[in-house]
Amino acid sequence: MASIWVFHGPNLNLLGLREPEHYGSRTLAEINQAVLTIADQAGLNAECRQTNHEGDLIDWIQTLTPADFLILNPGAWTHTSYAIRDAIRAVRVPTVEVHLSNIHAREAFRANSVIAPVCIGQISGLGAEGYILAMRYAIDYQGRQEKESP
Ligand code: DQA
Repeated sequence: MASIWVFHGPNLNLLGLREPEHYGSRTLAEINQAVLTIADQAGLNAECRQTNHEGDLIDWIQTLTPADFLILNPGAWTHTSYAIRDAIRAVRVPTVEVHLSNIHAREAFRANSVIAPVCIGQISGLGAEGYILAMRYAIDYQGRQEKESP
């Protein structure tokens, strides 16, 4: 069954404790709970996962299909990982990249995302709200897909 997947990359397990001036005070568990509640209300299947291991994320992405939807915060891999970019492109899963902080308003190295070119779009700087907005988009997107190919 097609699902909305929310994958969080390295160090995002530390949300709540980690640099709250950049990433806010909400924990990953709280963000995931908000995401799952929205999916539940829409009657859709969603699953959230976090990893500090790049290969795990690549393996997870490789199981997805164009019928799924991926909401991805790649953490620092945003700026470095051609392997994650290639995995998204390979399986053609529609993807929205989410960042809690505004990556364009911080250190210069953060402004470049090697993942963004294979995504539908990017949400950056809206804190945890970014995941909520990405969920709304994912739900609308999946609704449109269903209408187009019943
Ligand atoms: C981040 C931004 C990245 O630059 C950083 O390495 C992170 C978090 C964000 O959500 O703002 O780990 O992806």
